[in-house]
Amino acid sequence: MPSLAVVRESNAKFSPPTTPVAIFLGGTSGIGQGTAQAFARYVKGNAHIILVGRNRAAAEAIIATFPKAPNSKYEFVYCDASLIRNIPETTSALLARLPKVNYLVLSSGALPSVWDAIRGIEHRTEEDIDRLRAVLFYCRTKFVLDLLPLLQKARDAGEDARVLNVGAAGHGGPIDFNDMGMRQTSGVLKKRGIAVTYLDSVMEIFASRVPGAMFSHIYPGLVDTPLLPWLVRILGKPFATSIDDCGEYMLYALLNGGAGAPRQGEHGDDLGQVGYYGGDEVRERVWAHTTEVIEKALAAGSAKSGVNV
Ligand SMILES: NC(=O)c1ccc[n+]([C@@H]2O[C@H](COP(=O)([O-])OP(=O)(O)OC[C@H]3O[C@@H](n4cnc5c(N)ncnc54)[C@H](OP(=O)(O)O)[C@@H]3O)[C@@H](O)[C@H]2O)c1
Repeated sequence: MPSLAVVRESNAKFSPPTTPVAIFLGGTSGIGQGTAQAFARYVKGNAHIILVGRNRAAAEAIIATFPKAPNSKYEFVYCDASLIRNIPETTSALLARLPKVNYLVLSSGALPSVWDAIRGIEHRTEEDIDRLRAVLFYCRTKFVLDLLPLLQKARDAGEDARVLNVGAAGHGGPIDFNDMGMRQTSGVLKKRGIAVTYLDSVMEIFASRVPGAMFSHIYPGLVDTPLLPWLVRILGKPFATSIDDCGEYMLYALLNGGAGAPRQGEHGDDLGQVGYYGGDEVRERVWAHTTEVIEKALAAGSAKSGVNV
């Protein structure tokens, strides 16, 4: 487990040979913000950085902290990534104008309120998906899926193509083939474990599609961000990692994880098989379920807007 000093020293050596393109879905707050700021700082502004989310004011305030260089290009792209049908509009625009994507960090997410967690209440989106899993899993997955060609272009140029999916690697649980949508499954922790296994599985699928690229699922540990309920934030402060330090660790993990689908812990260490409930059949079932949910949402969205699919 590398110390923060070792991580900082390693990050300080980051010097990409060409101007990298980096996208942060969830870069407007918390872990994504810290990672984007560390990235911008270590490349000394020599990057094209795109923050994707809903909060333009937050994005602009974060961008204002990035160092400036002659070839700096910083932008905010609006996307409500709780609805699958919103993703293609964003990704098709990125596909049309970007030459490549070198780094993609996904940290869009939310938590249930304590009350909802205790009572097992879920809030479903217009696409009839639990809102938390829509943001954490389905929309992130569609986002990566759409951007695979740009990651492949980075690989084709002999450059880094690295994806960091911020979740809870190492805290997986067994999935239920008879209830892939988790409609009959109860218990917040059980559902979380299943969602973690889903994240592990799709990252393995992506890794098989872009050889040489990295698709890491990472657990950031307890991080002091606006996501945490206020009481947890106050009581957990002595144990929680700050946004800045977490950004250092996440950047280290992004730059140093092995090719394929590593699962990483809060300091970027490889988790091996800890908390892993995947495998060939799980991967196939998760992918079949995920693509079915995505296609259904897109077809319903197209029907609503009068577009033929
Ligand atoms: N903090 C922790 O201790 C911790 C621990 C383990 C795992 N995690 C996971 O890490 C992820 C990030 O957590 P965080 O602590 O950084 O949270 P945060 O500070 O609240 O940031 C959440 C990010 O998600 C974005 N987001 C939320 N809903 C969105 C939507 N509908 N469309 C687009 N973007 C959306 C937000 O952007 P906009 O507001 O601009 O939309 C924001 O940038 C979450 O998935 C969380 O479960 C966190």
